[in-house]
Amino acid sequence: MAFVTHRFIRTISSTTVRNAAIKHVTIIGGGQMGAGIAQVAAATGHSVVLVDTSEEILKKSAKGIEGSLKRIAKKKFADKPEAGEEFIQKVMKNVTTSTDAASVVSGTDLVLEAIVENLKVKQGLFGSLDKVAPEHTIFASNTSSLPITDIASSTARLDRFGGLHFFNPVPLMKLVEVVQTPMTSQATFDALLDFSKALGKHPVSCKDTPGFIVNRLLVPYMMEAIRLHERGHGSKEDIDVAMKLGAGYPMGPFELLDYVGLDTAKFIIDGWHAMEPENPLFSPSPMLNKLVEEGKFGKKTGEGFYKHK
Ligand SMILES: NC(=O)c1ccc[n+]([C@@H]2O[C@H](COP(=O)([O-])OP(=O)(O)OC[C@H]3O[C@@H](n4cnc5c(N)ncnc54)[C@H](O)[C@@H]3O)[C@@H](O)[C@H]2O)c1
Repeated sequence: MAFVTHRFIRTISSTTVRNAAIKHVTIIGGGQMGAGIAQVAAATGHSVVLVDTSEEILKKSAKGIEGSLKRIAKKKFADKPEAGEEFIQKVMKNVTTSTDAASVVSGTDLVLEAIVENLKVKQGLFGSLDKVAPEHTIFASNTSSLPITDIASSTARLDRFGGLHFFNPVPLMKLVEVVQTPMTSQATFDALLDFSKALGKHPVSCKDTPGFIVNRLLVPYMMEAIRLHERGHGSKEDIDVAMKLGAGYPMGPFELLDYVGLDTAKFIIDGWHAMEPENPLFSPSPMLNKLVEEGKFGKKTGEGFYKHK
């Protein structure tokens, strides 16, 4: 029955929804990822509304974007500081902010969320926006670990729903995993691919499986590093150095965990463990749980496995 329904929706979508270019973007969540995506979208000429829960957070997001643009301008326009300033102003003009998503989605082509990694919260957000967003608007999630199909199930636009998984830091990382569920229409998938390319990124195509490509390989690796350390088989410093010098990785696993956010890593592994409790690669870690309990989330809180200034 579900299969028939999905096929029906796909047929409808491919005939009624045009593959128009994404120009106006609403990004929900102005944290590490949302602010980075907003910056890149604005810098490539898209009009962006960045949404978060308070003005205070949004001020911090805007300041972060401006700071990042300043660093880019300093390199890009080393000999022409005025041109650099002009570039910053031009990009910042493309970004507005709001604390009320429902009131800003009326003119948007894409709603992309980068909020907390929690299925119920993401479903609640998209469920409410589905009622107010225009028919043509595509919804996408930047989730690292949750099934896109489950998030989309809170809406009636399964054909116009996909995954856009960016990497941290967004302005520097070239990859975007574009995720197609069995219900995502080809027009939607193509629009998301084109949007990723318009941002100057290199998209790869993925099916809706846990962790897509990168995290399915990377998260079990980082958890193995914590387990190695928990068993007392290596200090975190030595494990980090070993992977950098021995495997040529730019960061060690503990440095990477602090960068990603230990809360995010815990959400991911707990979710996968619940899905596949027998899989030893998805076992939770007491050490990770303790750090998260203590509010030590990594770089964003000033301390994780390491202390950060
Ligand atoms: N950190 C990474 O390396 C990384 C990489 C790829 C994907 N992701 C995914 O991106 C998402 C965000 O991760 P992050 O690291 O940017 O988190 P973050 O904690 O830095 O930012 C999340 C932001 O969302 C806001 N928020 C929470 N609920 C909201 C709501 N209902 N409405 C509006 N704003 C809300 C918070 O106030 C916060 O500013 C998660 O789904 C995560 O799995 C993270």
